[in-house]
Amino acid sequence: MSKKINIAIIGLGFGAEFIPIYKRHPGANMNAICQRTESKLRQVGDAFGIEKRYTSYEELLKDPNVDAVHINTPIQSHASQSIAALKAGKHVACTVPMATTVEECRQIVELVKQTGLTYMMMETVVYSREFLFVKELYEKGELGKIQFLRASHQQEMAGWPGYWEGLPPMHYATHCVGPVLALTHAEAEYVSCFGSGTIDKNLITKYNSPFAIETCHIKFRNSDLSAEITRSLFNTARQYRESFDVYGSKKTFEWPQVEHEDAVIHTGEVPSRVKVPDYAHLLPKEIQAFTQAGVYDADEKQHLSFIQGSGHGGSHPHLAHAFITALQEKREPYPNARQSANITCVGILAHESAMKGGEIIRLPDFTQSR
Ligand SMILES: NC(=O)c1ccc[n+]([C@@H]2O[C@H](COP(=O)([O-])OP(=O)(O)OC[C@H]3O[C@@H](n4cnc5c(N)ncnc54)[C@H](O)[C@@H]3O)[C@@H](O)[C@H]2O)c1
Repeated sequence: MSKKINIAIIGLGFGAEFIPIYKRHPGANMNAICQRTESKLRQVGDAFGIEKRYTSYEELLKDPNVDAVHINTPIQSHASQSIAALKAGKHVACTVPMATTVEECRQIVELVKQTGLTYMMMETVVYSREFLFVKELYEKGELGKIQFLRASHQQEMAGWPGYWEGLPPMHYATHCVGPVLALTHAEAEYVSCFGSGTIDKNLITKYNSPFAIETCHIKFRNSDLSAEITRSLFNTARQYRESFDVYGSKKTFEWPQVEHEDAVIHTGEVPSRVKVPDYAHLLPKEIQAFTQAGVYDADEKQHLSFIQGSGHGGSHPHLAHAFITALQEKREPYPNARQSANITCVGILAHESAMKGGEIIRLPDFTQSR
């Protein structure tokens, strides 16, 4: 039998969602948790029965029993903490995005190459039941030839932790870039993005980013395909939406306009509503139940993103399973470091393009398989 992976979770807001999943996964030992605030660490540790607790990430990285870290800290820490973990010999799963600069992405890809360790960006949408459903349709040939893809992520971030205020919309674009690239395992070659509208003055100064909405076209490498993605974070009236549309020559899948409605499949010009099935059967039985409900109960409440994001499409156990089995079977997870860099750099460069009036910007070579 493969060795169980000793996993540590860093950041216990959204991160706490994964504790019971790893606790029950047959290939994992939920080994340690890390959180700077002592009281929160105690609260979560007691609620989930985790003995080994760290307030210092640096101390945790010295622990020889920890094989892998799953990072769920604020966006600005993802890259430095991933880099530190790889340098300490730990495998890394990191919530989205991989980084906030192209240079940080490059360093992570380089370190993974040098160390032979595994890196996976934990993009929820590419493990959601909707994505798995469309992927199944695509792989069975039911969609015919893919002609175009479109995704959006619109969310009002007022009231979220301060680092979100004024964030360039495309700096958190992986929930739209991920699915459009992942369906055909494509790579982005270049992007062109327009900014539109203006957010509140006090928000603009935080990142010097003025736009309410950013829309980006992505040209796929070695392919006739392109995709369009839309992001907004502030001052735009719209119900929460993480949507994904795929236009095929035979069938097209379109996301519902309003949450809790059914999706639409167009066969030729004929539309029909479809109930997207669950994909828990792809998982070990011990963690199948987690596709249906949030697990963060330390505070008697679920994480806000889980409620607002409609349970992230049941993706959490699929993500944990993909990471653990990649480590046990010594194979690349999806998305691996290079693929994560390609997805993340689309967003970073899209914002740069928007700031330059839509200039075309090419993805760097290190994000592409050459
Ligand atoms: N669908 C998704 O994929 C999804 C959904 C929600 C959040 N996220 C990501 O998860 C991350 C965390 O989100 P959140 O809402 O829980 O954020 P948050 O700011 O509420 O919580 C982050 C936690 O990390 C802890 N932390 C910060 N620095 C630390 C350090 N150096 N060492 C140990 N702990 C540290 C904080 O104390 C806090 O508990 C964000 O980066 C966000 O991008 C992804």
